[in-house]
Amino acid sequence: MSRMNSILRNSISLVRMLASAPTANSRFCSALACAALCLATAGLPPSAAPQAATHAALPHATQLAHPSNAQLANPALEARVNRLLRQMTLEEKIGQLVQYNDTGDAAAILTPSAAQPGANNPGAMAVLNPDTGNHVNVTQLIAEGRLGSMLNTIGAERTDAYQHLAVDKSRLHIPLLFGADVIHGYRTIYPVPLAVAASFDPEMAAALSRMSAKESVSAGVRWVYSPMVDISRDPRWGRTVEGAGEDPYLGAAMARACVHGYQGDDLSKPGSVLVAVKHFAAYGAAEAGREYNTADISPITLHQIYLPPYHAAVEAGAATIMSAFNSLNGVPSSANPFLLTDILRKEWGFNGFVISDYDAVRELINHGIALDPAAAARKAITAGVDIDMMSHLYDTQLPELIRSGQLPMSVVDEAVRRVLRVKFAAGLFEHPYAQGVEVTAALDANRPLVRKAAEESFVLLQNDKLAGGAPLLPLNPAFKRVALIGPLADDANEMVGSWSGAPVLQNIITLRQALEERANQVGGTLVYSLGTEIDGASQAGFPDAIAAATSADVVILALGESSTMSGEAGSRAHLNLPGNQQQLLEAVAATGKPVVLLIFSGRPLVLNWAAQHLPAILEVWFPGTEAGHAIVNVLDGNVSPSGKLPMSFPRAVGQEPLYYNQLPTGRPPTGIDLSKPPIGEERFFSRYIDVPNSALFPFGYGLSYSSFSYRDVKVSKAAIPLAQALANRATPLLEATATVTNTGARAATEVVQCYVRNLGASIEQPVRSLKGFERVTLAPGESKQVSFSLGFNELSFFNLESVPTIEATQYTVWIGGSSLADQQAEFEVVAPKGMKGAR
Ligand code: BGC
Repeated sequence: MSRMNSILRNSISLVRMLASAPTANSRFCSALACAALCLATAGLPPSAAPQAATHAALPHATQLAHPSNAQLANPALEARVNRLLRQMTLEEKIGQLVQYNDTGDAAAILTPSAAQPGANNPGAMAVLNPDTGNHVNVTQLIAEGRLGSMLNTIGAERTDAYQHLAVDKSRLHIPLLFGADVIHGYRTIYPVPLAVAASFDPEMAAALSRMSAKESVSAGVRWVYSPMVDISRDPRWGRTVEGAGEDPYLGAAMARACVHGYQGDDLSKPGSVLVAVKHFAAYGAAEAGREYNTADISPITLHQIYLPPYHAAVEAGAATIMSAFNSLNGVPSSANPFLLTDILRKEWGFNGFVISDYDAVRELINHGIALDPAAAARKAITAGVDIDMMSHLYDTQLPELIRSGQLPMSVVDEAVRRVLRVKFAAGLFEHPYAQGVEVTAALDANRPLVRKAAEESFVLLQNDKLAGGAPLLPLNPAFKRVALIGPLADDANEMVGSWSGAPVLQNIITLRQALEERANQVGGTLVYSLGTEIDGASQAGFPDAIAAATSADVVILALGESSTMSGEAGSRAHLNLPGNQQQLLEAVAATGKPVVLLIFSGRPLVLNWAAQHLPAILEVWFPGTEAGHAIVNVLDGNVSPSGKLPMSFPRAVGQEPLYYNQLPTGRPPTGIDLSKPPIGEERFFSRYIDVPNSALFPFGYGLSYSSFSYRDVKVSKAAIPLAQALANRATPLLEATATVTNTGARAATEVVQCYVRNLGASIEQPVRSLKGFERVTLAPGESKQVSFSLGFNELSFFNLESVPTIEATQYTVWIGGSSLADQQAEFEVVAPKGMKGAR
């Protein structure tokens, strides 16, 4: 409830802050060993020494064997950090570990008197725990050097005003860091992250992140709470929309690309922002897809499926990480030394800082592992959470914990060092203010990039031939009268999806606008009808919609979810079209007109009826600022769809969690027709009696306006010695190749995918796993040999000790256009008889 209130307050303050530029979306913010350790320490006496030891015993970033970010391990920077640290009082140190959400009064901060904090000057207030009505005087805290960072402060004037307080008024002049939920664009909005993942184009993801970073720094935002790299195998979880979907290989590629794009090659260069990779860890494994719910997964699944994207982001130099709300195997992530210290820092060499998620430190009390605020603060910081976002516990509890000896000063010092390192490396002391000319609206110069990103992200799910012989898409130019129907056809606010930065409503091109432009250009007619609301019950708009359809040559139906039906706190138990959209769909289809169904959604939906009854379905997610133009370009065939599904689309919600890289079962229903109820012995397999096991549209699937064929799937070696496979971790062990041909009549791009299966290992391995992909553009009739390097990373698996290894086993490689690719080659890893690892 408190979070809901605070979301509401965020909305209110943003609307106020951006009064001159109406926003499109007012909500801007919108281990087994470990379990044993936490249980053992839960009832500890005040000394809390064992917990503190975890943190204090960690070597400094400069001493880590493999620091993740070389800039943070620079000895000159460390000397500056230590010099500053020596001058700091306890309150000033703790201040660096505290973050408040800027829900304050814009006027207060922007008046000169705000720079004079005092008893008579309320300054700008940040709201804490709205249930209790707590407030803090942010301007006063900043001027006294007792606040290190702020969340969701929008606009250069405002960030600069706060920054002047910190730099000019505070005793040690330590600049603030301004963080914000810039997830898929700041002013120029690109498609939601799940959609960007559908492009299978990490270079595009990097370019988009760079664009977004440049817009953000112009407003003083030097830290984005992105990328969200949580793997999601269950689309009921609303935050599916913010990540790259169900696959760790694709997720890792996207994570790496975003970190590179946002941070550039130097944290201090103009145009670079710090990332906060979130939410560490396994937040996407929330049971039953219910938001904030428990994650309970095996160590192997954790390492093999959930951790790779975070690891890739850390290896790419991520400067900060956000700890998750969820508990993992019984230990809340925001007080989890196994995650935050053992894996993140000791194993991966992460040398940035960790920030908690919003109020997550206080929530340790709700998780039942802290009896009081002091215990929550102590457990969080000793586990490795350096900054407390919004729970008001580090500033209220740490002083007494230190004075009473319950928390060693070294723990606080190390957390402060981590924060200061990042601030120095980001060049914040030299350049604390907003950079360049502030971007206050979508930039025309950025439109082509976000339009291309949207075009690449659309997934053509179905495109059947009409009676005349041609598929419905691209649209036949002879269709002069087009009916556009549905609640997503002309709603700018919905085009940007959840976590949409600070877009300006008027900048967003809806589908209706774009189709009107098209009609004017080609001399056609557009008939528009709302039909129904997104979540409506009234059928009052149906007759108008049916009349529009009846009068037209072709119907474009824009249906789907609202942006708030996914994202944080957007879990759904039903994956169908909301409200009465299904009825509208059926009524419009009953007119007999050819219907193109566009699905706007932040997750896979159940689309069985549509797949059985409609010729064409295009998944367009939430496309962003250039939504309308991008969709029209694809409908018209100026661009051929090339997106592929980053998540499986189920036939029934009861199949969830449904993912392609599942583990084998002892009773696979091979050769049985699962579309029919079982007869006799057909029951006794791993199956449902009422729905096939398979996805309606599987991972990696997506059609094109052209077609592609695959041949000559080969591997460069039939056998690899085990010793070589284990010794050689850096260079490829073999190449897998295939020839792909554009067999259609038009140039198009195909995402060529490489899958691997490992058979015979000591631990069962997924039925197949993505290990490579490449976007290939081919002219009609053109062929290309595509090659994938397979090395230790691609061929290894995690053993029972959670260590990656390779055993003498057999491998199958498939190369094709989806996770159903059926052309294969085999090789094996061999060990001399008697050698460890031999079969
Ligand atoms: C979300 C984070 C977000 C933070 C700050 C939390 O509720 O889980 O993803 O970055 O709020 O807005």
